[in-house]
Amino acid sequence: MKELRMKPTTAAHKLNGDITADALLARFQDHIKYSRGKHFAGATDFDKLASLSRAIRDLAVERMLATQQTYYDRDAKRVYYLSMEFLMGRLLSNNVISLGLRPVVEKALGKLGLSFEQLCNYEPDAGLGNGGLGRLAACYLDSLATLEYPGYGYGIRYRHGMFRQEFDNGWQMERPDDWLKFGNPWEIIRPEDAVPVLVYGRIENLPAIGDGPPRSVWVDWQMIDGVPYDIPIIGCGVNTVNILRLWSARAAEGFRLDVFNQGDYVRAIQEKNWAETISKVLYPSENTHAGKELRLIQEYFLVACSVRDAVRRHLKKHESLDNFAEKNALQLNDTHPALAVAELMRHLLDEQDVPWERSWEITVAALGYTNHTLLPEALEKWPVPLMERVLPRHLQIIYEINDRFLDSVRLRYPNDDERIRRVSLVEEGEVKQVRMANLAIVGSHAVNGVAQLHSDLLKANLVPEFAQMWPERFSNKTNGITQRRWLLACNPGLAALITECIGDKWVRDLDALRKLEPFAEKPEFLQRFLAVKQANKQRLAALIGERHGIAVDPQSLFDVHVKRLHEYKRQLLNALHIIALYHRIKDNPAGDFVPRTFLFGAKAAPGYHMAKRIIKFVNSIGEVLARDPDVRGRVRVVFLPDYCVSLAEMIVPAADLSEQISTAGKEASGTGNMKLALNGALTMGTWDGANIEIAEAVGLDNIFIFGHRAGQIEAMSRDGYRPHEWAERDAELRRVLASIRQGEFSPGAPGLFDDIHRALVEWGDTYFHLADFRSYADSQQRASDLFRDRTTWARKAALNVARMGRFSSDRSIREYAREIWNLRPVPVKVAAAKPTM
Ligand code: IMP
Repeated sequence: MKELRMKPTTAAHKLNGDITADALLARFQDHIKYSRGKHFAGATDFDKLASLSRAIRDLAVERMLATQQTYYDRDAKRVYYLSMEFLMGRLLSNNVISLGLRPVVEKALGKLGLSFEQLCNYEPDAGLGNGGLGRLAACYLDSLATLEYPGYGYGIRYRHGMFRQEFDNGWQMERPDDWLKFGNPWEIIRPEDAVPVLVYGRIENLPAIGDGPPRSVWVDWQMIDGVPYDIPIIGCGVNTVNILRLWSARAAEGFRLDVFNQGDYVRAIQEKNWAETISKVLYPSENTHAGKELRLIQEYFLVACSVRDAVRRHLKKHESLDNFAEKNALQLNDTHPALAVAELMRHLLDEQDVPWERSWEITVAALGYTNHTLLPEALEKWPVPLMERVLPRHLQIIYEINDRFLDSVRLRYPNDDERIRRVSLVEEGEVKQVRMANLAIVGSHAVNGVAQLHSDLLKANLVPEFAQMWPERFSNKTNGITQRRWLLACNPGLAALITECIGDKWVRDLDALRKLEPFAEKPEFLQRFLAVKQANKQRLAALIGERHGIAVDPQSLFDVHVKRLHEYKRQLLNALHIIALYHRIKDNPAGDFVPRTFLFGAKAAPGYHMAKRIIKFVNSIGEVLARDPDVRGRVRVVFLPDYCVSLAEMIVPAADLSEQISTAGKEASGTGNMKLALNGALTMGTWDGANIEIAEAVGLDNIFIFGHRAGQIEAMSRDGYRPHEWAERDAELRRVLASIRQGEFSPGAPGLFDDIHRALVEWGDTYFHLADFRSYADSQQRASDLFRDRTTWARKAALNVARMGRFSSDRSIREYAREIWNLRPVPVKVAAAKPTM
């Protein structure tokens, strides 16, 4: 590396150094003693983890107080990010890095013979989300704080987050996640800020007073309390510490006192338990709608607590809600919190006596809506009778919004009943339904998709009438990921190499990675780049060996497919290619094949039977191949159970190839694609979601693009897609399909995968696996050929890293702040008080 111009190595960034290792050690030991109530000798691993976390939290709290005070003093505009999911993962390691304290912590723990890395591994994941949507919310919180924006996350403190996945004979088993079993050292409970939430009951119409409008009151409701738990969100390299406020449901004070007084203690307790079920469990599905009463109540609970809290904070500083939208932006992460439209209206109308027209102006100006899917089955709709029972006042408000909105549409487009039918907030039918996407669009001043293609399709196909009516409302905000977690923390080897070459600016400005481009032409750099990848692969191989007793070859190509299991994401297409490869090896056992390890990680929604069968299918293929001596050392298929953020942090840095093979037009954005490319994996992808923008950024020479495009898929759907014709034309594909039907991967259980075969050949192959198979298999062959030349591969991988700047969530958040929220950074000048120890 002699000829490389090296910048002096620095720690990733230096912020404070305002605490010495000895002072931190003292705080740590104090927490063992006073927070955990133990002598050090008797402390468990979790005691140590919790005590270190509390010691770090103490430091964050100093900044959190300074931050909140600054926001009040400056009367700053705030943004509230409302999301039913926050897939935070582990907090300790990232928080220590954000505070610039890693060397201090390591030194302090070293004095007691403790390993920081090991301690970090005892932390359970905060898995309060399903997949991309929830992880996006977590990345956005990191960027908001790091960019010094006054931003808050509002979510639900589910007692049980995403289920823990185990395999039993290759089948997915769901076990409850118990992430709070030993408590959560990061959270601060605030019972004093608990808010009441009303559900059920009925509307009583009252006579108008004088010439005033008709009045109505909501009576006979039940009350639940929302108790906030605050988690500090620490900006990296700045003083800003924002807050993620998660609501926990609790029976309201004096709940059903009447029932207690009647002596029915058991019933009263049952009702108390009912209140608590509201925040008991995360609905484990993504891209399908869980049509359950409890889910509707959960969504309302989030919205009601959050709106009330935002209003309370506003009214501390202002006399009325008249300037609410100038001082507050509420962003809806998908339609799940769309009831915020009706709830904010209810506040303004019923609690603040603001007239309808002004209430509506304020609501629309304050709200923004992010759409995350075009899949019809994932578009939320709630039956009117259910809504009437659970939220009678809100239904009344929604009807009023709809009446006024449809009047305005009729005025603009007279005699266009079809248009009225399509834009109405209420879908007619046997059972009327409230369309939450329409409610969110009508009630927001800004609507955005999450990648360019997705935003275009949203306007062109999903809601063209709205886009035509309000073109200025629609925009694109391509998703992003935080490089603090997805490079600096999870891939220390690559982070250090990059910093050595170009300095550490990239940590807070990912575009700085551009400077790495010239290094991709230097063989010495590429050797070191490859060595980092190799070490990461060995680290993952060791984990797979330890946890599952499976030996994988770290020299083989690590082909990674990690994301939720859904047919549109086409894990099945990957499986078809593996089978084809298997047949090629069987036909030519002496052939020279590039060894591959296929790594899968995916949870299926518990009620999604086809997805669960695909998991079993992949596991069965893996077993058959593992038993075959011809295959040994060439192809290995490993389905890693319980894919979650912390497992992703091990897999992503170790990947050579990133499978992003959704049916074009179906994946809104994807963010796994960004994480993998940023860590030097080459993408095997369709022209879909953010893959397109990644391809444009890294260059078509540095990515494998295959398959039909969205327009072609649409045309095939329209003109009649006949999957069997694709099979007839392709001998290799025919053989793959025949082997599934003949039970090659279900020895002893013929017919086990018949439904998979039928779905592909007889039931229309909804996701176009067969149409894309040939192009995929050929592209995979090109990847294998390229992998033989490691230096060329590494050059392309390094160029991927260098050109991923655009995919930082910092860029996304800046765009939201400027174009939707009208939000400015508010730096926190008050430095945290220096400890005197
Ligand atoms: P909240 O905004 O009411 O949730 O309070 C959060 C934190 O902001 C409090 O713990 C205080 O540190 C700070 N804070 C609350 N109200 C004020 C105020 O009126 N001026 C300055 N700081 C405040």
